[in-house]
Amino acid sequence: MVCFRLSPVPGAGLVLFCLVLGAIRSYALELNLTNSENATCLYAKWQMKFTIHYETTNKTYKTVTISDLGTVTYNGSICGDDQNGPKIEVQFGSGFSWTVNFTKEVSNYSIASISFSYNTRDNTIFPDAQDKGILTVNNPVAIRIPLNEIFRCNSISTLEDNDVVQKYWDVLVQAFVQNGTVSTKEFLCDKDKTSTTVAPIIHTVVPSPTTTPTPKEKPKVGTYSISNGNGTCLLASMGLQLNVTQDKVASVININPNSTDFTGSCHPQTALLRLNSSIIKYLDFVFAVKNENRFYLKEVNVSMYLVNGSVFSIANNNLSYWDAPLGSSYMCNKEQTVSVSGTFQINTFDLRVQPFNVMEGKYSTAEECSADTDLNFLIPVAVGVALGFLIVVVFISYMIGRRKSRTGYQSV
Ligand SMILES: *[C@@H]1O[C@H](CO)[C@@H](O)[C@H](O)[C@H]1NC(C)=O
Ligand SMILES: *[C@@H]1O[C@H](CO)[C@@H](O)[C@H](O)[C@H]1NC(C)=O
Ligand SMILES: *[C@@H]1O[C@H](CO)[C@@H](O)[C@H](O)[C@H]1NC(C)=O
Ligand SMILES: *[C@@H]1O[C@H](CO)[C@@H](O)[C@H](O)[C@H]1NC(C)=O
Ligand SMILES: *[C@@H]1O[C@H](CO)[C@@H](O)[C@H](O)[C@H]1NC(C)=O
Ligand SMILES: *[C@@H]1O[C@H](CO)[C@@H](O)[C@H](O)[C@H]1NC(C)=O
Ligand SMILES: *[C@@H]1O[C@H](CO)[C@@H](O)[C@H](O)[C@H]1NC(C)=O
Ligand SMILES: *[C@@H]1O[C@H](CO)[C@@H](O)[C@H](O)[C@H]1NC(C)=O
Ligand SMILES: *[C@@H]1O[C@H](CO)[C@@H](O)[C@H](O)[C@H]1NC(C)=O
Ligand SMILES: *[C@@H]1O[C@H](CO)[C@@H](O)[C@H](O)[C@H]1NC(C)=O
Ligand SMILES: *[C@@H]1O[C@H](CO)[C@@H](O)[C@H](O)[C@H]1NC(C)=O
Repeated sequence: MVCFRLSPVPGAGLVLFCLVLGAIRSYALELNLTNSENATCLYAKWQMKFTIHYETTNKTYKTVTISDLGTVTYNGSICGDDQNGPKIEVQFGSGFSWTVNFTKEVSNYSIASISFSYNTRDNTIFPDAQDKGILTVNNPVAIRIPLNEIFRCNSISTLEDNDVVQKYWDVLVQAFVQNGTVSTKEFLCDKDKTSTTVAPIIHTVVPSPTTTPTPKEKPKVGTYSISNGNGTCLLASMGLQLNVTQDKVASVININPNSTDFTGSCHPQTALLRLNSSIIKYLDFVFAVKNENRFYLKEVNVSMYLVNGSVFSIANNNLSYWDAPLGSSYMCNKEQTVSVSGTFQINTFDLRVQPFNVMEGKYSTAEECSADTDLNFLIPVAVGVALGFLIVVVFISYMIGRRKSRTGYQSV
């Protein structure tokens, strides 16, 4: 889930809204574990979703998102005893299991680790997975909570592995419950402490008028290629960063290529690259040919999900970016901005595209953006200036020399 914090609206205080990753529908899991005396020993309520990335037999990657957990069982969840700490064990779907274990110290208890297992033998969820079997990711968490306090975290927490992204929100948990009474004293997670309201801020930079936004890390470079009957017809590789402005506050989102799908099409005069992910319904790059000898990025059409069930959409078919001769590719390693509208812009990094005339699946020679060539361009300029200066110096010396010798002749 990606959330945006909006600037204060008159009379409404801070308004927050979120971009939901995938299904907006979600429901809470709840576990009230009791001991042999039927007194509550562990209480938990939370929501979670998983995004799994796996390799298929034809060497491509697929992404599945598990947000509707279906029927859930809690077999194996225990209050804990002298040997073992308390444990939450959840089973759902076909072969998913999720485990949290807790430990206790003198005056604190800890959520020690969270592990998640999935079975890629399930062909309906993981069709043509390369590696079949049960895979487990285990993440140490080490969240320390004072005894007899209940941990609350409404913000989204993310645990990220290479292949699995786990997200949790609306978390309420207390282990080692004393005397069977769940505490009313809440221990808030750091993210909830900083946001005045419940909504979380993740993956976004939240600039405010008084603070400068923290610099965002560079997005990972994704490689995209589209094929038609004649083989690869469009190539693109780029790191993409989306900048959405809502109520004068900009939110910056990096596109993770691992969890982004792409499609597209190629025609003689236009070519399309369409990306989508759990938060991006679609992001279209439409290329066109102009004057029969150059191509350019003509149109961007985007639609993103918002938490309140609505969708943010912007299109502009009158752009002119990434302009290069047909039969070549366009390259720009420096950060460049595609300004789609006043409220939506795309920052690109390490960009290379060729939407037409791709030969043998490879990029043709690149035409570089001016930002990249500035330095290379400065070197000849500097050399030229130095040479010019030298010529002037030589010329002046020559004139002085000539005058001296003339004076010499006259004096003779
Ligand atoms: C948990 O279950 C116990 C026993 O059934 C009940 O007394 C208690 O109110 C429940 N607690 C919550 C928070 O649901
Ligand atoms: C969980 O327990 C229920 C009944 O308590 C049982 O029917 C089910 O088979 C168990 N599931 C697993 C995965 O052990
Ligand atoms: C918690 O779970 C992990 C993985 O399941 C395990 O390695 C670790 O020993 C467990 N810790 C405790 C205290 O049970
Ligand atoms: C994406 O996948 C590649 C290969 O599986 C992996 O090396 C890389 O760390 C992943 N990146 C992210 C951001 O998950
Ligand atoms: C639990 O009960 C014991 C004895 O009845 C009492 O001393 C203790 O303070 C209680 N703890 C809490 C957290 O209510
Ligand atoms: C494949 O190339 C041929 C010759 O260049 C062209 O006539 C045909 O339309 C192309 N097919 C597709 C699907 O682009
Ligand atoms: C995002 O857009 C806003 C408004 O156009 C701009 O002020 C800000 O510098 C942009 N941030 C990034 C990281 O591009
Ligand atoms: C992209 O869209 C396709 C078709 O609409 C969908 O099957 C796929 O799950 C989407 N990909 C992601 C990463 O959400
Ligand atoms: C943007 O894409 C949507 C969905 O594909 C389409 O309905 C709409 O006409 C497009 N807008 C433009 C300006 O192309
Ligand atoms: C969702 O939030 C956006 C931004 O605040 C707003 O423009 C839109 O009208 C809202 N949609 C619904 C259905 O509430
Ligand atoms: C497209 O952009 C050009 C210059 O950027 C402008 O002159 C023209 O009016 C625009 N056309 C439309 C339909 O917006």
